[in-house]
Amino acid sequence: MDDNASNVLLLEGILQEEDYSAYLSITDSRQVLPIFLEYHPDLILLDLQMPYLNGFEVMKQLSPHIPPEAFLPILVLTADITSEAKRQALAGGAMDFLTKPFDATEVILRIRNLLQTRELHLQLQNQNQLLEQKVRSRTAELEETQNEILERLALAAEYRDDDTGEHTKRVGQMAAQIAQALCLPQVEVELIRRAALLHDVGKIGIPDSILLKPGKLSPEEFSHMQTHTTRGAQMLSGGRFPLLQRAEEIALTHHERWDGMGYLGLHGDTIPVAGRIVAVADVFDALTNKRPYKKAWPRAEAIEEVQRQSGRQFDPRVVEAFLKVVNNSHD
Ligand SMILES: [Fe+2]
Repeated sequence: MDDNASNVLLLEGILQEEDYSAYLSITDSRQVLPIFLEYHPDLILLDLQMPYLNGFEVMKQLSPHIPPEAFLPILVLTADITSEAKRQALAGGAMDFLTKPFDATEVILRIRNLLQTRELHLQLQNQNQLLEQKVRSRTAELEETQNEILERLALAAEYRDDDTGEHTKRVGQMAAQIAQALCLPQVEVELIRRAALLHDVGKIGIPDSILLKPGKLSPEEFSHMQTHTTRGAQMLSGGRFPLLQRAEEIALTHHERWDGMGYLGLHGDTIPVAGRIVAVADVFDALTNKRPYKKAWPRAEAIEEVQRQSGRQFDPRVVEAFLKVVNNSHD
């Protein structure tokens, strides 16, 4: 861009001499922005003293369209320039200066340097993006593997007293729906869906004679059975990922009661919300399904029982959310 047509012709001649052909010359500074937006050039040669918009005003107009990471060089063309104007041009986005009258060698040298720098910059940016993409997909793979292992661990634990493996899945599903109805963040809802699968993982450490006993447990057997919460939490403890941390929390607290009469005696809000949610989902699923020592309750009766326990065994807000979930589903 130079308002002086003979300067433009001169520059074109120099470029042609060096076999550059992808250039566009204009002499009206008001055309810079529309032309820029249409052609997305790799380099701008810009005069400073021009009618309509001077070079500083053009740079100001362009700057919102040139993000810093774009690395688009502006080469300022100028006759004798003061150091104040130079400073101003650099601040406005200029990367180098060409002094008129032009010296062909100097023009080509500057242009080549700036184009090369831009290319290297873009290559680097590309490489960085590729690397970031790789890291992202590796992280996703890692997470996927971790989920798979945890799901298998949950299955292994459950296989001993329910060889279908459906209980943990249903509890995870229901817990996620309750979390959703409580308006927890989506990330948390998904964490709870997966972490809830492991709520009874500590049962791996409970002997068959207790776990599979058809009749009522003796007090000693029952207190042994209760240790599945702390055993599970121990197995899952020290995890670095949020999923393991949430699973540990749920394993430890899913038998806590709102009124403080649960396994560990935690009460109310001191019980982590994930534990309070899984407590409801776990009991509801146990009631509505057959166990060695009891038959399945009708759905309506199980819902009533959960409601009756609001404020006693269960957090009233969680029960409210649970009711929204069961009243919305029609299975
Ligand atoms: Fe349990």
